[in-house]
Amino acid sequence: MLLEVRNLNTHYGQSHVLQGINMDIGEGDLVALLGRNGMGKSTALKSIMGLVRITSGSVKFNGKEIGGFSPYKIARAGIGYVPEERRIFPELSVLDNLMLGVKGGKIRNTHDPHTWTIERIFHHFPKLKERIHQAGGQLSGGEQQMLSIGRSLMGNPRLLLVDEPTEGLDPIMVEEVRNVLDDINKNAGVSILLVEHNLQVALSLAQRIYLMQKASIDCEITSSELDSSEEIRAKFLEV
Ligand SMILES: Nc1ncnc2c1ncn2[C@@H]1O[C@H](COP(=O)(O)OP(=O)(O)O)[C@@H](O)[C@H]1O
Ligand SMILES: [Mg+2]
Repeated sequence: MLLEVRNLNTHYGQSHVLQGINMDIGEGDLVALLGRNGMGKSTALKSIMGLVRITSGSVKFNGKEIGGFSPYKIARAGIGYVPEERRIFPELSVLDNLMLGVKGGKIRNTHDPHTWTIERIFHHFPKLKERIHQAGGQLSGGEQQMLSIGRSLMGNPRLLLVDEPTEGLDPIMVEEVRNVLDDINKNAGVSILLVEHNLQVALSLAQRIYLMQKASIDCEITSSELDSSEEIRAKFLEV
């Protein structure tokens, strides 16, 4: 198993926002984590990434315990994180934004086909290539999302945690971002844990889905099961 989360608990002060969650992600998987607002999905990603302190439980990546490690060490271990806020640097060029994702500031092992290089990013994100010297802030919302994903890939993650990548995008860009995630999962072999509010996007990408209710994961289901069960959608997703 690439990622194993066991009985993970996280608090914000007195508030117990993750109450013993469990997740498994295998090599090459694309798994979605869905649920209504405020259930704890973003906190789950941040807890795996070490961005919020976990209270207890275990996070194993590639068989090694990483629970409680710093975000820096977790990134080094091979997990990338694309936050909801798309933290790109608006004054820096597309190229410089991408280079910021490189660990240690230098691309090593460029002959290794698994190493992400600028050329390889542009192969998967041709839109960014057209804008290589433009400032990040001049890109559209969808292009900034691509840049944010591309920058994470430059750190050569085996697993990418992606939080609400299609939020606020128009339907054409939603489709493009969807296609990029599909491409990097299927063709570049990057495993993905996806939080996504657009159900059609999630169903079309994920093989397996975890459904979250207040602070816990209460259901694991396949995409086709969720697609055909109005009852489960009503229970976990619809407002
Ligand atoms: N930094 C924070 N401090 C205190 N409470 C927070 C913080 N971030 C999120 N919360 C609360 O934790 C709960 C889970 O939030 P979040 O993980 O963002 O949910 P989701 O991503 O599913 O919408 C919510 O009740 C939210 O208000
Ligand atoms: Mg969230």
